[in-house]
Amino acid sequence: MNNGQIHTPIEKGKFIAFEGIDGSGKSTQIQLLNDKLKSEGIYCYTTMEPTDSPIGSLIRQILTGKIKTDNKALAALFAADRLEHLLNDDNGILTKISDGTTVITDRYYFSSYAYHSVDAPMDWVITTNEQSQNILRPTVTIFIDVDPDTAIDRIKQNRAHQELFEKKSRLVKVREKYLEAFEKLSDVEKVIIINGNRPQEVIAADIWEKIKGYFL
Ligand code: ADP
Ligand code: TYD
Repeated sequence: MNNGQIHTPIEKGKFIAFEGIDGSGKSTQIQLLNDKLKSEGIYCYTTMEPTDSPIGSLIRQILTGKIKTDNKALAALFAADRLEHLLNDDNGILTKISDGTTVITDRYYFSSYAYHSVDAPMDWVITTNEQSQNILRPTVTIFIDVDPDTAIDRIKQNRAHQELFEKKSRLVKVREKYLEAFEKLSDVEKVIIINGNRPQEVIAADIWEKIKGYFL
């Protein structure tokens, strides 16, 4: 652990965060971007939240309904999992970025702002994640915007059970909260909104067009 050290935001490797409601196509696009970058000779580290740390595994048990908890406690667990994700000595994002590695994450703090501000004030969720904002802001956040009906259809086709946040009415609210958070933080965050209601190759080409300037 990085016991209480102060981290100044650094940028050697690029840090790309993918965001979107469940079933929006984040993992598909991360894979396609990873392949594209590899073909350009750029090797990336891909990662996700919740992580596979003990905190992340506790979160997954809550999401599947195995363990019950209060929504604010869950929001705080996600903030803790994120700090672990950044600061872990073995595979923490901060060390990788400092070494010059490009890191792509499937979800980062905008997920918290969107999912938890449905039940709690957004300002509280943002404050709860203040440490992560100070440590590392994404070079760019890519939001894959899909219609919640489409997202639910995709989820139903591919998953045996729906997790806590995958009910349609919830996804409609989460999408609205994402847009609200992007607007609220437009002065400090670089966000690219991508229309995700298109074939995956078209979306991938659009993402590449919009971010290739960071790499080439
Ligand atoms: P997420 O990681 O955001 O939950 P996934 O990438 O796992 O989303 O995509 C959810 C499902 O939808 C997967 O079965 C995937 O193959 C499919 N899918 C992803 N992108 C598209 C797309 N553009 N059009 C149709 N289906 C898609
Ligand atoms: P996961 O199965 O990884 O979903 P996906 O493939 O769509 O990313 O589950 C992650 C769930 O956790 C998803 O519903 C979003 C939610 N979540 C939060 O509620 N808060 C957070 O801070 C993060 C990172 C995720």
